[in-house]
Amino acid sequence: MIFVDACFNKPTPYTPVWMMRQAGRYLPEYMAVRQKAGDFLTLCKNPEMAAEVTLQPVDIIGVDAAILFSDILVVPLEMGMDLTFQKGEGPVFSDPIRTAEDLKRLQPNAADRLTYVYDTIKIIRERLAEDKALIGFTGAPWTLITYMIEGRGTKTYNIVKKLIYTQPELVHTLLREVTEVVKLYLEKQIEAGVNVVQIFDSWAAALEKPKYFEFSWNYMKEIASYIKGKYPHIPIIMFPKGIGAFLDDIDGDFNVFGVDWGTPMALAKEKLGDRYVLQGNMEPCRLYSKEATKECVTAIYEIMQNQGHIFNLGHGILPDVPVENAKYFVDLVHSITKQ
Ligand code: CP3
Repeated sequence: MIFVDACFNKPTPYTPVWMMRQAGRYLPEYMAVRQKAGDFLTLCKNPEMAAEVTLQPVDIIGVDAAILFSDILVVPLEMGMDLTFQKGEGPVFSDPIRTAEDLKRLQPNAADRLTYVYDTIKIIRERLAEDKALIGFTGAPWTLITYMIEGRGTKTYNIVKKLIYTQPELVHTLLREVTEVVKLYLEKQIEAGVNVVQIFDSWAAALEKPKYFEFSWNYMKEIASYIKGKYPHIPIIMFPKGIGAFLDDIDGDFNVFGVDWGTPMALAKEKLGDRYVLQGNMEPCRLYSKEATKECVTAIYEIMQNQGHIFNLGHGILPDVPVENAKYFVDLVHSITKQ
């Protein structure tokens, strides 16, 4: 698989490309299945439909890898929390975890209950072309507990950060519990057939540097070491969003570092390029314009052409991007990088 080879920094005929959130609302075909499902969580829990939308961007856009259609928040959901997706607001937990007493509500064996995810993976792997990779994923423990403690998206993170500075042990207890679930969850995704795993740390930028390493990166590294120890042939992609200023201290047993759009690719290359393959990092809004896309793809290629690289956006594709422009991006990457 070209994609897996690229993750291990082996030579490939062209630079592979995929897009975060590539299965989603910018595709009319996704909206049709989503409507049939009724709501987003029902879609995530229906293996047949989730497999169908996973495969859509491979067929329609021509990306080199499929990413499992699911959500990072199915982990706290199966730990027993009450999750809904509310129009205009996004995910909401009605029963946030804020005290030692609340922690007792969390149920063990969440990884065993995520069977719909493993069933989805099996269907996708049967239908996906053999040379295309399937990416499994999880949220980083830090990003997951942010939702579990705050209960919803937040601009200030004040509830979870108050706990960090006043009751750090409570936060670590929750992080350890989530980390154990995530290890087993990734393991079961791999056993079901994913070829690569990515860890999304979407709220990495909420923390100051020492707290970031203590409350997030250390747990991500622990997960990566655990998976590497058992499955050395499975590449691991780390995507901590918004920590461009901390790159000097990034280390760990993984293969690919996802560069967000706010971090200059040249800086990531200078700091990490000799140790990790880099993924990214076009600003997603450039997809509104073909000219802006071409300018950026050319610039990134110039920096990365002699370096291990996977093309991607620096965060998820937005719902109002024209499908034609997404396809243009993928075709352009293939044609410009062809050896
Ligand atoms: O194509 C893919 O990338 C695979 C599917 C995927 C989804 N969510 C589908 C989804 C993946 C990998 C995720 C990860 C995810 N979910 C993250 C980390 C990545 C990131 O974007 O930083 C986070 C923070 C979440 C939590 C989440 N899920 C939010 C905040 C929202 C609402 C925001 C929004 O865009 O509306 C979701 C919902 C969600 N997850 C949608 C999709 C396609 C939209 C749901 C819909 O169809 O209405």
